Amino acid sequence: MKQNLTIALSKGRILKETLPLLAAANIIPAEDIYSSRKLIFDTNHDTIKLVVIRATDVPTYVEYGAADMGIAGKDVLLEHGGQGLYEPLDLEISKCRLMVAGMKDAAPVTGRLKVASKFVNVTRDYFASQGKQVDIIKLYGAMELAPIMGLADCIVDIVDTGNTMRANGLEPTEHIADISSRLVVGQASLKMKHRQIQPILDMLRTAIDARREETA
Ligand code: ATP
Ligand code: PRP
Repeated sequence: MKQNLTIALSKGRILKETLPLLAAANIIPAEDIYSSRKLIFDTNHDTIKLVVIRATDVPTYVEYGAADMGIAGKDVLLEHGGQGLYEPLDLEISKCRLMVAGMKDAAPVTGRLKVASKFVNVTRDYFASQGKQVDIIKLYGAMELAPIMGLADCIVDIVDTGNTMRANGLEPTEHIADISSRLVVGQASLKMKHRQIQPILDMLRTAIDARREETA
């Protein structure tokens, strides 16, 4: 008998690129996700449900088995730590970079560096790997403002086109990681529901390969 399978999707910018990939794997929400206030959606499969939640909550739901699979940015997964998760597929969507950035032409910092970010674990690990102890200031958005306002010397944030940094007089200085969205599967779910999960992984992989060839 088929068991129920729940896939956690990140709302926000990833969702727009996720839905066509899911459609290519023949997983289609039963109603329009954007115009609904629902959090759980039926699909064209009796046994597959979608939950649409904040990106940062996706790995948590999957880690604890409340969702079987999820889609989230590698930045979010690095910050979470990845415990309890397999990461079998790079979906190659929402590509960007995680970088250190500071004010253009800033004077060198004497003493301990103050770094603002919403990625506090990644920030701590990155500077520790360089042998640097830094003071980390947790923010929830608009990180670019922190050096401008004197809250921090630099930030760790996402860069794509670089427009947001440029518009605010900042420049990226150090590259931490290349980011794209990944499919994660809970370790317990993969064991228990392998027969249902494997065909979905195969269809998604085919869709990703086809799209890569189209754009090559
Ligand atoms: P929340 O609203 O929950 O705080 P968020 O604002 O980070 O989350 P989004 O802006 O929708 O959410 O970003 C979700 C993911 O998209 C990020 O985790 C990252 O992987 C990717 N991303 C963020 N900014 C960009 C960008 N400018 N270009 C491409 N991908 C991006
Ligand atoms: C993201 C990120 C940067 C910006 C980078 O912000 O936090 O601010 O995109 O993209 P760019 O290099 O192309 O300018 P987003 O637009 O998602 O806003 P938010 O994180 O403040 O919600």
